[in-house]
Amino acid sequence: MKFFIDTANLDQIREANDLGILDGVTTNPSLMAKEGIVGHDAVMQHYKAICEIVDGDVSAEVISTDFEGMIAEGEQLAALHENIVVKVPIIKDGIKAISYFTNRGIRTNCTLVFSAGQAILAAKAGATYLSPFIGRLDDINFDGMELIKQIAEIYAVQGYETQILAASVRNPLHIVKSAQFGADVVTCPLSAILGLLKHPLTDSGLATFLEDHAKAAAK
Ligand code: G3P
Repeated sequence: MKFFIDTANLDQIREANDLGILDGVTTNPSLMAKEGIVGHDAVMQHYKAICEIVDGDVSAEVISTDFEGMIAEGEQLAALHENIVVKVPIIKDGIKAISYFTNRGIRTNCTLVFSAGQAILAAKAGATYLSPFIGRLDDINFDGMELIKQIAEIYAVQGYETQILAASVRNPLHIVKSAQFGADVVTCPLSAILGLLKHPLTDSGLATFLEDHAKAAAK
């Protein structure tokens, strides 16, 4: 399973990249706005900056909701860097746009996915990645992980090549379950990645090792 970081914060992207386990980055308009990145030129420059830090796919989302607008934006984004993946919402014009991009060799990430039906359409359109939003489903009392499981089963049965990119990941357990249920990629905040390291027995065990070593060395 590939690890992407879900942020537009350059410091956090660098920190995750320095771990040596980072395979890519996902962003969305809310994450860009959170970093204060506004205006066409600033947004383009920011994507370029991300691509310079990470040697992996970087999802850049279109703002348009009509076909022509998505095509114009997506082509401009894809031309920025070879690692840019155009992120497109799962709406009617979005599916048309994904088919258009697929036919022209432009890679896509179909986003805001909350159902297996949406996942089937996105795969039919040839999306490179599919982003089911686990956390937002959990928030409204639906089981996000069940959706990952269902999509993984459908894609395996049908032989779809679209990669399942578990998104809206909020905690380390979401990462573990995504791996267990067959997600190809997980995108998550840095806190969730670092949360995978946590275990009280690791902390107490390490403290004991260091104490024992210090005692022996003092003899
Ligand atoms: O990758 C999608 C993600 O950014 C949404 O996460 O936490 O806003 O639901 P969240």
